[in-house]
Amino acid sequence: MPKGLNVPPYKIKMVEPINLIPKEERKKALKRAGYNLFSLKSEEVFIDLLTDSGTNAMSDNQWAGMMRGDESYAGSKNFFHLKDTVQDIFDYKHIVPTHQGRGAEQVLFPLLVDEGDYVLSNMHFDTTKAHVELAGGTAKNFIIDEALNTDKYHPFKGNFDVDKTEKFIKEKGKDKIAMIIITITCNSAGGQPVSLENIKKVSQLGKKYDLPVIMDAARFAENAFFIKSRVQEYENKSIKNIIKEMFSYTDAFTMSAKKDAIVNIGGIIGIKDDEELYNKVRSQAVPLEGFPTYGGLAGRDMEAIARGLKEGIQYPYLKHRIDQINLLGEKLKSNGIPIQYPVGGHAVFVNAKKLLPHIPYQQFPAQALANELYLEGGIRGVEIGSLLLGRDPKTGEQIESPFEFLRLTIPRRVYTDSHLNFVAESLINIKDRVDKIKGLKFTYEPDILRHFTARLKPIE
Ligand SMILES: Cc1ncc(COP(=O)(O)O)c(C=O)c1O
Repeated sequence: MPKGLNVPPYKIKMVEPINLIPKEERKKALKRAGYNLFSLKSEEVFIDLLTDSGTNAMSDNQWAGMMRGDESYAGSKNFFHLKDTVQDIFDYKHIVPTHQGRGAEQVLFPLLVDEGDYVLSNMHFDTTKAHVELAGGTAKNFIIDEALNTDKYHPFKGNFDVDKTEKFIKEKGKDKIAMIIITITCNSAGGQPVSLENIKKVSQLGKKYDLPVIMDAARFAENAFFIKSRVQEYENKSIKNIIKEMFSYTDAFTMSAKKDAIVNIGGIIGIKDDEELYNKVRSQAVPLEGFPTYGGLAGRDMEAIARGLKEGIQYPYLKHRIDQINLLGEKLKSNGIPIQYPVGGHAVFVNAKKLLPHIPYQQFPAQALANELYLEGGIRGVEIGSLLLGRDPKTGEQIESPFEFLRLTIPRRVYTDSHLNFVAESLINIKDRVDKIKGLKFTYEPDILRHFTARLKPIE
């Protein structure tokens, strides 16, 4: 393909109309939603960049697979297709399907975490942290310092600070550590990849202290793409071989299939070869998710995941996707919008702390920016900052997040470059009036995962 051109390796067979409602209606909708974009009706949104989770467009091959669903309670042929596919891509012996990623977490984590244990990660995703805590553990993050400096280039900002991690293990004693979770790509730090070298070092740490190493594998293929494109030694290796090597260093994975498996629902627990753990997972899955050959999914869903896993590791698809997101990021950056740089795998993360320095973290600058972008162009992004992080459970104080990000998350195979150009232009349009944007305060604040249902209002 000629340099500089980014042509999708697919054509569009079915469309879903979208509509930009008038600005006055957007204002009313936002007020009604309590200044929380989660409470909008999707019809009030023009371009929906809330999440890349379950918002993907499936291929004709996946839809055809849905018609081949074997809805047997036990032993569905789609389960075996999924199992064979996982064995082929990851070299893992066992799988248990789950209804989505958090379903995998709720089954696996209580088997590995005891009351009072610590769980160490580069950065826990919010449901991952919640499941660690529900199992009685404490979640600790050990991401490298470079990730906190959004302007500074680092090819693998999702990496662990291995020295800090080891220091913590020594300090607390290995018996107080339940497991290490490697989140690939590291969503909360900006969809940033983890290098193979780092995965290997973390795995060695796990071996040294006899700790299981678990992959939070939602965006495994995007992580492999970054390794291929940023490490010379890997540029001629296939995505599949890179994935095999990544997963050879870990013992098990939890996966939200709603991302890189390009489906709308589903999750997987993968276990490399630990028969005892597999048997425990199978038993635990039954009351929580369902019989271990369907785990909360219909046969047709498992078929779509099996087919999607194969499509999601194709190099031309991954290259187009990552390049498209990069294009949006570069356009914003060159127009003076600060972003987490380099651009990550599934989203562009706008640094609202830097763009709106007049709004303190307790007034949620990234949420205020997200609301303004909705008013400007009917675009729905999401806050990844102090609103998401919540309060200290002991003191009740608002915790200051290391980041105040507006995440513009790109669903797979859904939007074209012109949609993303519109997003960039809309954000650039509001850049000159950001100092007029007001911070927010709660009118209703739920105790748990408050960002989903909270109600807010601008501070006059
Ligand atoms: C890194 C990571 N882990 C786990 C999850 C949870 O997956 P699910 O939403 O399928 O429950 C997500 C979802 O966004 C995620 O990004």
